[in-house]
Amino acid sequence: TSFNPAGIRHVFRGTFVHSTPHCALQILEDALVGVDTDGKIAFVEKGEDLSRFVIDFNLSDIIQLSQHEFFMPGLVDTHIHAAQYSYAGTALDLPLLQWLNTYTFPVESQFKDLDFARKVYKQVVKRTLRNGTTTACYFATIHTNASLLLGEIANEFGQRALVGKVCMDRNPSVKHYKETLHESQEETCRFIAELLDKKYPLVKPVVTPRFAPSCTGALLGQLGAIAKNNNLHIQSHISENQEEVELVKDIFPESESYTDVYYKYNLLTDKTIMAHGCYLSNEELALFKETGASLSHCPNSNISLCSGILNVRNVLKHNVKLGLGTDVAGGYSASLLDALRRAQDSSKVLAMQDPELEPLSFEEAFRLATLGGSQALSLDGQIGNFEVGKDFDALRVNLLVPGGPIDLIQHEEAKVLVEKFLNLGDDRNIVEVFVAGRRVVPFTDSKSD
Ligand code: GUN
Ligand code: ZN
Repeated sequence: TSFNPAGIRHVFRGTFVHSTPHCALQILEDALVGVDTDGKIAFVEKGEDLSRFVIDFNLSDIIQLSQHEFFMPGLVDTHIHAAQYSYAGTALDLPLLQWLNTYTFPVESQFKDLDFARKVYKQVVKRTLRNGTTTACYFATIHTNASLLLGEIANEFGQRALVGKVCMDRNPSVKHYKETLHESQEETCRFIAELLDKKYPLVKPVVTPRFAPSCTGALLGQLGAIAKNNNLHIQSHISENQEEVELVKDIFPESESYTDVYYKYNLLTDKTIMAHGCYLSNEELALFKETGASLSHCPNSNISLCSGILNVRNVLKHNVKLGLGTDVAGGYSASLLDALRRAQDSSKVLAMQDPELEPLSFEEAFRLATLGGSQALSLDGQIGNFEVGKDFDALRVNLLVPGGPIDLIQHEEAKVLVEKFLNLGDDRNIVEVFVAGRRVVPFTDSKSD
């Protein structure tokens, strides 16, 4: 079987690495990968079969990777607060609830100003794209117009994104940063309608109750209904910090658990992603599994805010879908490579305390950052690895860039190159980023200012 070259946009030849459900790190050496004009992967074949698969394709148009390059799937950030990028790298000296009141809510309230919002949102989209985040699941703020602007900017730069206008009708500490029940519901509907109306191919709305302590039961119920009626994604936070878990018990005494609060209001579906989950019981994890809801593991944030450490091995044992998140700015890094490293570090810390626990391998962390994230966002039919028919969301990685962070002493096999990049690499090594077959990094001149 050969293919019709008329519909092919790119053909690449070289090393491709990705994950499958059965293999955390599959290495395809001297692969031949075709991408069609719709941005989908048309074929994945062996380089030596070139002449059989690429009939009439101009050989000089085939892009040959060098020895120290490989393609990997784009990184999926399953949890990031775009507005909090404005203070990333600062203000990590308080536990969660005080941190929200002292830093987060005052900063987020500034996003009423669209000029400020534009500046920050452009920077966060550019920074994450350069870091290889081809898909981001964003929290914005309570402001509908600024949240729409985030969608517009993600579309303009070609990033795949879920964008959430934050909903909160309860805030006892910072009284000006909240909505009424009616406003929250009306503005959520306006946000969804206006974002869908733009028909951006890669940007979709996500229903976003901030977390149970910021919402009345009435609001949670309405948001559950809105998500159901429009078949939308849902995102929130759960069991991040012990004080927060106690607070939820006080506010929702009729619920058996934190998970049960969301469950009761129809907020746990197979399109739900909940950040953190450090203190979930096995019963709660079983409810995640049953409903198809997923978790976003945000280790930088968990450590930076002294929130807790998620037992990733136990989550995986319960077959709960799991991805990684930067949780900017509770997490100070906007790079998913940082999340991947910290996920391994924190699983090693737990393993030191419990010899029965097997720490995450780099291959498993790689899978969480790519295929795992796509599963957690229920997008694995479309992205996550290099299966034929999926969109080509990919990073071209070069280990040896001038002035880059990695040295190679001798020729290394592909697996070593991948491990070195995951542990030592940064955006300098990510020489090209593709989303749905379109090259979005390096930026074109008009976007680079
Ligand atoms: N819980 C509710 N809101 C937030 C937030 O903005 N960041 C984090 N890390 N946890 C939250
Ligand atoms: Zn968060």
